[in-house]
Amino acid sequence: MCGIVGYVGKQKVVPILMEGLKRLEYRGYDSAGIAVLENKGLLFEKAAGKISVLESMLNGKKFEATTGIAHTRWATHGEPTNQNAHPHIDCKGEIAVVHNGIIENFDALKEVLARKGHKFTTQTDTEVLAHLIEEYFEGDLVEATRTALSLVEGTYGIAVLSKKTPHQIVVARHGSPLVIGSGEDENFVASDVSAILKHTKQVVYLKDNEMAVVTSQDFSITTIDNIQVTPHIQEISWSLDMIEKGGYPHFMLKEIFEQPLTLRDAIRGRLNPIDGTARLSGLNLQYEQLQHINRIIFLACGTSWHAGLIGEYMIEENAGIPVEVEYASEFRYRSPIIQEGTIVFAISQSGETADTLAAMREAKRKGATVLGICNVVGSSIARDTDGGVYIHAGPEIGVASTKAFTSQIMVLSLISLLLARMRNMSLERGREVIKHLQEIPEKVEMALKKEDEVKKIAQLYHKKNNFLYLGRGINFPVALEGALKLKEISYIHAEGYPAAEMKHGPIALIDENMPVVVLAIKDAVYDKVLSNIEELKARRARVIAIATEGDCEISKKVEHVIYIPKTLDMLTPLLSIIPLQLLAYHMAVLRGCNVDQPRNLAKSVTVE
Ligand code: G6P
Repeated sequence: MCGIVGYVGKQKVVPILMEGLKRLEYRGYDSAGIAVLENKGLLFEKAAGKISVLESMLNGKKFEATTGIAHTRWATHGEPTNQNAHPHIDCKGEIAVVHNGIIENFDALKEVLARKGHKFTTQTDTEVLAHLIEEYFEGDLVEATRTALSLVEGTYGIAVLSKKTPHQIVVARHGSPLVIGSGEDENFVASDVSAILKHTKQVVYLKDNEMAVVTSQDFSITTIDNIQVTPHIQEISWSLDMIEKGGYPHFMLKEIFEQPLTLRDAIRGRLNPIDGTARLSGLNLQYEQLQHINRIIFLACGTSWHAGLIGEYMIEENAGIPVEVEYASEFRYRSPIIQEGTIVFAISQSGETADTLAAMREAKRKGATVLGICNVVGSSIARDTDGGVYIHAGPEIGVASTKAFTSQIMVLSLISLLLARMRNMSLERGREVIKHLQEIPEKVEMALKKEDEVKKIAQLYHKKNNFLYLGRGINFPVALEGALKLKEISYIHAEGYPAAEMKHGPIALIDENMPVVVLAIKDAVYDKVLSNIEELKARRARVIAIATEGDCEISKKVEHVIYIPKTLDMLTPLLSIIPLQLLAYHMAVLRGCNVDQPRNLAKSVTVE
């Protein structure tokens, strides 16, 4: 979704801003722009489309500026046109604003400002900010911004520049992330550390309702109500090569192949083979509190929601605790029932998804203990929860989540092991689970070796327009995730279904033109899945099965089989999703799609 980058220092600002914007491309956007302070005043350029369009507009122009802000926009209010792109400028052409989030009362504010003579040129909500700041500007940009923000309802991460106060950037945050990067005689601002990681690893995350004035020499933070805040500088552990492609044609493929490594990182130091349990001290819960959990709610969106569904199967089966998995967007507007003993987990790769954040706050308000399962350290969800578990998957740049998904499942399996060992699971069984968990990274490596077989299947089917994915038990959410991956990046319509439910609708769609991916793992529901395959075959469906190594029977029944290694039933999603990720990837590549930045999608959805 929208991205912000800003710089104030001694270097020429335009190349720094453009490089930062490119690092933010992965978040998803449809237009881009920059504003810089030259001697002659405020200059800005903006363009609909890719950053390369903006780049070509800047080509040949000479910029000396050393202060500036830039933005990638993901349209919410107003189409993705040149005019609606950020930065937005006041009437006098002296103030520039870039904004992530949504100003909910923009209509009312616009009306008042228009009556005072302000001229609006865009359909965006953001433009009111530039005019509001202009309206209240009396020589101090920080104070004008503060006053403007006191009138605004909604969410924002903003960066503001003014010709009248050169060599400074004013930033503020309420619901949309903002980070200040500290350098030598220079400072940076960004909505995402990857935009500035090349230049500095020393950062300060602004908290909600904080603002800052940033110059080349320092930055000073206050709350929006003007209470001084002491900055807490943190060191980023990510390195630059972690956010680069490392020889792979796409981030998504790199991230798929990183999974053996990221899964090792997810369990590192967290297994206790002697007691057959997991160590998860970040949960910040006492033994007694863990023992008294009598209900668990998972809040999440998208792929993280699918991970939650897998967690539900794992925890109910192993620990016997009832679990509910809620779409965060629905939960936040319901009247959820939170009782004593209910624990809520917010599952989010980015830790910034607006709906998950709001749902989690609602649960907190109702008295729940809220924990996080996050990837991005220092993210809003990670900071706002009472404790949690980091998945340690490293930066995920491909919009379609892959390695974060498997790491979320890995962490959920650890949570389920911990809770189960406090209840009915025997020491022996706990140790067996640990043994299998330790073998998973190697088995993922084996599953990845099937890439060429998957590619051949993709070559046969990439021109199809519809796909069905079926699974049962713990592999039903894998079917959902496989279908989501395919539609996200290849734009093929795909539906995931519980295999037996097929009879209650989707079977009407089955004929020789409908490829069906079936998760036919040798687990407790294997025979049932075989019966579902027979039903498909009777209707001439073309079946691609994901099956367990050594299962010869299945190859006689279906057209294509991709084998995965055997593991415990509860851990099969960690392996069965691998061929489905590869299938979606190769189909999308064959269809000529932009795999890492699929149309209309955003990596981190920071608006409702
Ligand atoms: C977006 C992304 C998905 C992701 C979802 C939830 O829609 O495109 O890949 O699963 O948000 O994101 P989160 O960061 O909360 O896991």
